[in-house]
Amino acid sequence: MGRAVWATFIALLAFCCPASADNFPSRPITIVVPFSAGGPSDAMARILGERMKLTLGQAILVENVTGAGGSIGVGRAVHAAPDGYTVGFGHLGTHVANGAIYKLNYDLVSDLEPVVLLPSNPMIIVSKNAVPATTLKELIGWLKARPAPATAGTAGAGSGSHIAGLYFENATGIKLQYVPYRGTGPALNDLVAGQIDLIVDQLSNSINQVRAGTIRGYAVTDDKRAGSAPDIPTTDEAGLSGFHMTLWSGLWVPKGTPKEVVAKLNAAAVDALNDSQVRKQLENLGLQMPPADKLTPEALGDWQKAEIAKWWPMIKAANVKVD
Ligand code: MLT
Repeated sequence: MGRAVWATFIALLAFCCPASADNFPSRPITIVVPFSAGGPSDAMARILGERMKLTLGQAILVENVTGAGGSIGVGRAVHAAPDGYTVGFGHLGTHVANGAIYKLNYDLVSDLEPVVLLPSNPMIIVSKNAVPATTLKELIGWLKARPAPATAGTAGAGSGSHIAGLYFENATGIKLQYVPYRGTGPALNDLVAGQIDLIVDQLSNSINQVRAGTIRGYAVTDDKRAGSAPDIPTTDEAGLSGFHMTLWSGLWVPKGTPKEVVAKLNAAAVDALNDSQVRKQLENLGLQMPPADKLTPEALGDWQKAEIAKWWPMIKAANVKVD
């Protein structure tokens, strides 16, 4: 048989027969992270993947597929073969907000099988050190007094940092000029370099730069201080009461992936979340473990639907334009 015929035959095999769960996994698994390397999503995926491979007995590869607020990478995972070898990493931005902003060629609920809810963290309002403010109230005063909107780094329209920015605008009446990156890793580099004014960022992404004093942290979007950043006030303490936002993450696989395969991926992720070393790494980044009773695939599915109901009205009212 010619090479083309063989290739077609192999390709058909990949789609014709649902993965057999008995010998799953029999080859490496890829986690698609829809943001660039070096950001908070990438960091969490790599930390968890390193431990999941011990349970699964196969390498876990992380592939960064970026662009359009994470919706391109999510599409890659959604349209992969439903065999468990391609797992999609996502979060509030990609698996809730994007559905209200983009004309997606997939449905965030009906085209995916939830696998497991992952750790979450509050957002933190951070600025470049050159901003003449040391408290949140001073920062808001500076933002309101500016002749032109301050620049706010995001991971693209619909990303967690973008939704947080919209929420910050709503809560304060300021206007921001968003500067989109392929992830908040590169956005943070530009903030440290003073190229942009601020980010409403995941705590896990900014915490080390705040600790190092290379950027300024004003408040965390929670009603209690972060154990890993006890000197950063809450938004309630800093004068912006009720501006709370928790960015949670999760893993999904394409619709049609066999339940037994989903169960094996879920078990490996739960093993990782229960591993003391993994917990220490994640908690040191300011991440909070999901509640033990929220670790089933169904719990992530229910949570995502509830978050869609919660966030879509605000996001749609913001009338975000994406080119
Ligand atoms: C976001 O803002 O959606 C994420 O923090 C982006 C990322 O993980 O790089």
